[in-house]
Amino acid sequence: MRILTTVNELRAWSRAQRSSACGEGIALVPTMGALHVGHGSLIRAAAAARPGRVAVSIFVNPTQFGPKEDFARYPRTFKADCALAEREGASVIFAPSVEEMYPAGASTFVEVDGLSERLDGQSRPGHFRGVATVVAKLMIAAEADLAFFGQKDAAQVAVLRRMVGDLRLGTAIVVCPIVREDDGLALSSRNAYLNPGERKQALVLNRAIRRVEALVADGERSGSSLIDAARGVFAEEPEVRVDYIELVDWETLWPVLAAAPGTLFAVAAWVGSTRLIDNAIIG
Ligand code: PAF
Repeated sequence: MRILTTVNELRAWSRAQRSSACGEGIALVPTMGALHVGHGSLIRAAAAARPGRVAVSIFVNPTQFGPKEDFARYPRTFKADCALAEREGASVIFAPSVEEMYPAGASTFVEVDGLSERLDGQSRPGHFRGVATVVAKLMIAAEADLAFFGQKDAAQVAVLRRMVGDLRLGTAIVVCPIVREDDGLALSSRNAYLNPGERKQALVLNRAIRRVEALVADGERSGSSLIDAARGVFAEEPEVRVDYIELVDWETLWPVLAAAPGTLFAVAAWVGSTRLIDNAIIG
């Protein structure tokens, strides 16, 4: 498995793959590293779709972190990431420097108006601008025809789908299911920040999601009732601070009054100093 560090190398690799595969494109799996089994499932899905033509990017993107966020301490585990990526079927790793992705004086950013201020974008101003900018750069550099993302970052998926459509980037977004620990905690690189007590408290996110899914299965559709029920579950864990609990249209990220197939129920909460998210798509 090769490690590429420049945009030119990635583009040359992608073009060579396409010419040897009769025009079929490559799959891109954008990550910030600290890879876990959830990332592994994205890489596996990408390798099944484009065997031998999977680029995994590992880049802790500074522009999607706020000034008081965890950019400096975000886990960096490059050697283990390469091993996991190779095991799951990656063909190349793209690990650029910050200067390669943001050349000196770079002043071009991608703003997805309307969606970028919703959900995580509301509590993390500028976050989705940074995500959209780096993912657009990666898609353009890789000339990818498929890009794989996890449903756990459901608001990110909505922002990126809109960006790809608006900019006609020609990369299809594939969304893979949330991968969970046996006890229900959604896998996240930030779970590494949790101490044992917080790790237990963090389960409240999944309990809230499961409660809402059970109510929907019993026929409840009212958005306010579902949100109240989730609030009730969070109240059982008073040390966990709710950031948001929302029932929204997954395309626009705007609140809806009633759950319908495809509606996104999403939660975010602070467990100690760690912000975690989880969600369910209403069946
Ligand atoms: O989901 C992530 O890990 C990041 O937001 C992404 C898509 C790799 C962009 O930096």
